[in-house]
Amino acid sequence: MHRRILAPGALAAASVLLAIPASAASHSPGAPGIGDAYYPAYGNGGYDVSHYDLRLKYQPATDELEGTATLLARTTQDLSRFNLDFLLEVSEVRVNGVKASFEASGEHELEITPKTPLAKGSAVTVVVRYRGVPSSKEAYGFTSWHRTPDGGVGANEPEAAWWWFPGNDHPLDKATFDVSVLVPDGSQAISNGTLQSTSSRAGWTRYNWRSNKPQATYLATLAVGRFDVTTGTTESGIPVVNAYSKDLGDNYGAARASIERTGEIADWLSGYFGPYPFNALGGYVPNTTTGYALETQTRPFYSPRQFAGGTNTSLVVHELAHQWYGDLVSVAEWKDIWINEGFARYAQWLWSEHEGEGTAQEIADYVYASHPADDAFWTVKPGDPGPENQFHLAVYDRGALTLQALRNEIGDDAFFAILKGWPRKYAHGNATVADFRTYAEQVSGKPLAALFDTWLFQPVKPAGPAALDASA
Ligand code: ARG
Ligand code: ZN
Repeated sequence: MHRRILAPGALAAASVLLAIPASAASHSPGAPGIGDAYYPAYGNGGYDVSHYDLRLKYQPATDELEGTATLLARTTQDLSRFNLDFLLEVSEVRVNGVKASFEASGEHELEITPKTPLAKGSAVTVVVRYRGVPSSKEAYGFTSWHRTPDGGVGANEPEAAWWWFPGNDHPLDKATFDVSVLVPDGSQAISNGTLQSTSSRAGWTRYNWRSNKPQATYLATLAVGRFDVTTGTTESGIPVVNAYSKDLGDNYGAARASIERTGEIADWLSGYFGPYPFNALGGYVPNTTTGYALETQTRPFYSPRQFAGGTNTSLVVHELAHQWYGDLVSVAEWKDIWINEGFARYAQWLWSEHEGEGTAQEIADYVYASHPADDAFWTVKPGDPGPENQFHLAVYDRGALTLQALRNEIGDDAFFAILKGWPRKYAHGNATVADFRTYAEQVSGKPLAALFDTWLFQPVKPAGPAALDASA
């Protein structure tokens, strides 16, 4: 859903338009990409999804996934055909109940031609029946579906959806999700949001998860495995569900000791960022060999080896900070990644200060000093790092240095007002780096073009983010 465009009730009102016959000649294909400069083929043009209903069955022994995806969408142009992003084998597509022709194309496109063209502004229901072995699929030479000894997990950024559901895979098109997964008894299916119900029959158990707030497609996750599940409630009343693979070995204790602090950390972050934006919370650790974590909405994904060195509450802080900075407010384009990673990193610095392990300024000074001027670190521009450097350390660390420089320039009152105001201003929507500069200038009343240009867009080491001179 494009929050800025779609008014409540637009879907219902638009369905009336379906009755109006349109002349096919004026209809054209939806673009195969949504228009992202870094990833031209990601997402699609011509429609906007408001809801995904995924009804799936997964066999952990073989990594076979099958099911039906039902997408509720609205057209944003007259459409002769449109694309979804997807990799698995499709057996049938229906558009508004009628069989449509379809064809795989490109690296991850599913081209759908409805029997009759679709008029701009119509409500459209797309049903896709499919099956496949996600771990066997590669796009651009990699897979985002990770096989585990007890099943599999889909989690990656900027792309993970293609391996398990068809969609409009770009943060600009957020939607609500129902994810229902049938797994053999003894396995669990973990996803985002709230576990609405489970039911068991004939050796299989169905898990019904619901995300009732708009969610970017890359933030949707599914893991099937054998998990220990813990439940609780935050002081602010948010239900917490965490899941730990039973097979984490030596990392089990440190992972669980860290992630069990999720509720406490979310409550602490809400002091800086405003109320926790969703109605479910948690974290999960599948038995994967991947090395990264991901801020999958409401329930971040963590990798076991991130706890090999002991507890890592700082990582939990990072992924939970993303719930505001990344999930509630999402990038408008992937080049805007600093509005996610710079802030999640800065939250870790604030946590360090809270834990008595060094102030944000001390960490900033240390990070700044640890990269000499000739370090390639300074050649990456956090404000436009390029797709190859989207998750470069500089996006995180120079990104957080930028915030320390901003804090020192405008003072704590304005700085912390901005940290709290931004998630509310762009809640459930998208924003750009330029939007942040504009907002920071509004709140602080200071011109900040030079500061942001120096810290985010110049491929050289700036002068240090020195604290405000107390005598000034
Ligand atoms: N947003 C994630 C984090 O910082 C980063 C994911 C990086 N993705 C990857 N495939 N390494 O928590
Ligand atoms: Zn991050």
